[in-house]
Amino acid sequence: MKSYYHAHELAYQQIKSKGYVGWGNAKSLAELGDAKTNEYLDQKIKKYFTNTENKSALDLGCGTGTTAFALAKSGFKTVGVDISETAIEMGRDLAHQQNIEIQFITGDVLDLKAQNQKFDLIYDSHFLHCIVFEKDRKKVFSEIKSVLKPGGVFILDTMVVPNAEVDLSKMFESLRFDQDFILWHKSKPSTDRGIVEIEGQHWCAQRRIYPAEKIMDEIVAAGFKIHEKQIDDQQNEPSMLRMVLF
Ligand SMILES: C[S@@+](CC[C@H](N)C(=O)[O-])C[C@H]1O[C@@H](n2cnc3c(N)ncnc32)[C@H](O)[C@@H]1O
Repeated sequence: MKSYYHAHELAYQQIKSKGYVGWGNAKSLAELGDAKTNEYLDQKIKKYFTNTENKSALDLGCGTGTTAFALAKSGFKTVGVDISETAIEMGRDLAHQQNIEIQFITGDVLDLKAQNQKFDLIYDSHFLHCIVFEKDRKKVFSEIKSVLKPGGVFILDTMVVPNAEVDLSKMFESLRFDQDFILWHKSKPSTDRGIVEIEGQHWCAQRRIYPAEKIMDEIVAAGFKIHEKQIDDQQNEPSMLRMVLF
């Protein structure tokens, strides 16, 4: 995995070695995810899917299965895709423990067509803000469009800055947040894509955390219609922009 994606695989290797079960150092299945996200997804499933029988859902950046479990429990035939092999292995184990059937795939959301499947519901599992480069983000939207069934729903759930003046490096230690809304972590020197040297220090591109308006522009340019949207502020974290798109 020769790119800035590697940071995710390393993160999951650490999560696993500490005996945790998922993103955010969740110690148990009950700690996976957050209440606000779960509540939002639950509401939207009830609103847009009166019946989930024979419906399929795709969890993008599923990690160890946080949202994939919720989708499967709601009745969707569920697929989870994540770039981290370790996360996917952990997800398979957790699904097995709960007797839940999910197809977990190690793969890149920039190449969804390779999976040869189409879906009634696609959920951005806090993954889009991990895609830093504009060209890659455009590719993500076109891939999602090509695997969303006609009449299907795409739910975007992503980090945003409340306004263009916010400096996220003031919120987190050892970060750089630049004027292009890229969040950088300190890194070892490397020729991998996404790692740069600035004033003798190496930095790895980790997140693109745009203001909400910028993401809405991207979405419309990609050919999606915004059906509804809300922004939820979080304490000591960027806000979450949640949208239902057709
Ligand atoms: C913030 S984490 C959220 C994980 C999980 N959805 C959860 O809520 O626990 C973002 C996830 O996106 C995955 N990811 C990042 N870039 C990806 C890509 N290009 N293709 C697939 N997954 C990716 C990461 O490995 C990570 O698991």
